Amino acid sequence: MGLTARVTTRGPSAEELAGPDAATHLAALRAQGPVVRVDAVGGWLVTGYAAAVEVMRDAEAFTVDDPRFSTGRVVGPSMLSTDGAEHRRHRRPFAAAYRPSRVEQRHATATRALADDLLARVTPGGGADLRPALAGPLSVQVMARVLDLVDVDADTVLGWYAALVDAVSDLSAGRTPGPAADAAMTQLAEQLRHSTGHDSVLRGAGATLSPAEVVSDAAVMLFGGIETSEGMILNAVSHLLGQPGVLDLVRDDAGAATAVVEESLRLEPAAAVVDRYATRDVSLHGAAVARGDLLRVSLAAANRDPEVFADPDRFDPHRPRLRDQLAFARGPHTCLAMDLARLEARVAVQAVAALPGVRLVRAEPPTGLVFRKPGRVEVAWETATSGPAR
Ligand code: HEM
Repeated sequence: MGLTARVTTRGPSAEELAGPDAATHLAALRAQGPVVRVDAVGGWLVTGYAAAVEVMRDAEAFTVDDPRFSTGRVVGPSMLSTDGAEHRRHRRPFAAAYRPSRVEQRHATATRALADDLLARVTPGGGADLRPALAGPLSVQVMARVLDLVDVDADTVLGWYAALVDAVSDLSAGRTPGPAADAAMTQLAEQLRHSTGHDSVLRGAGATLSPAEVVSDAAVMLFGGIETSEGMILNAVSHLLGQPGVLDLVRDDAGAATAVVEESLRLEPAAAVVDRYATRDVSLHGAAVARGDLLRVSLAAANRDPEVFADPDRFDPHRPRLRDQLAFARGPHTCLAMDLARLEARVAVQAVAALPGVRLVRAEPPTGLVFRKPGRVEVAWETATSGPAR
């Protein structure tokens, strides 16, 4: 192990890593090594593809099960905060509902209808910011449908989400959270009590999980699928309209939306970082990681590792091995709902591509350290009365 291995890099600040030029800073860090200590993020930053996959696959050496992981303290033990046999017990009851064939069969038509309905509301206006018009509400409505939350409106779900995010931030900053998160979990539990329709992904989970555990896992699904999906859709639409030739590609062949989404996820993974805690001293690609150290796996950096993706900063939906991108992580915690997420993004891309004369007015660059998304994606299109979009 090299003597430099535990030397802290001065590196970029947290603001720079959360800013619009994060990829440049991450590339500079990767040039120093695939695993470097960065004080600004409070631990090791894993920027190399091979090291990232190794960490995410080895849950024995690199666990999520640590009291510092504040989401677990807010929603209770769930698949997101456990490892090993306990993790399998939490995850297994839901796996079948999220298989690709089941997702297509149960959710494709409904998701398309939700997207069409949202766009129909703004179509006469000839333009909109697609964050509040499409990406935000579609993400919430899909999850409400998947969990069979029939009596809950989108604002209520977003209110719960905000309460949980605040509580996680409070705990991470050493503050005691207020009662709002507990109240949100209680209300979610109450709503889920009615969620026994045959389409709910929770159906049958009570056979091996307690009622409280089902609620915790449902909360992880509900809240894991909102901000991430919103960011993913906005990034995909920005690439659709902002990259040369991509709109024509999707208009000529709607199926090309699948590759466009995958390449968009590679360049801008909406969940850019996942955290793990070392359970023992370990040498990782030359870095001397000590037991208890925090490892922050930068999916955004790994997805631009030139060892795996040639010319990594270029948007190229024709590149080989598109599915090797890591936006949905790897190993036991691979996103449970990645095929549902892909479906949402594909549907959104196809629906936007179908708007007559659609063009990008302004897309803000994605920002954020963990969740990365553009603040606004303004788009214009032709209407029956307006003629060509200006
Ligand atoms: C339909 C929407 C979604 C739902 C319901 C959902 C749900 C979940 C769940 C339940 C997990 C935990 C799996 C486990 O720990 O075993 C997870 C993990 C993950 N999801 Fe998703 N997800 C959604 C969309 C997304 C999107 C759009 C992204 C990124 C573009 C994403 C990225 C991830 C990542 C990176 C993990 C791994 C977390 C870790 O390893 O610590 N998810 N997701």
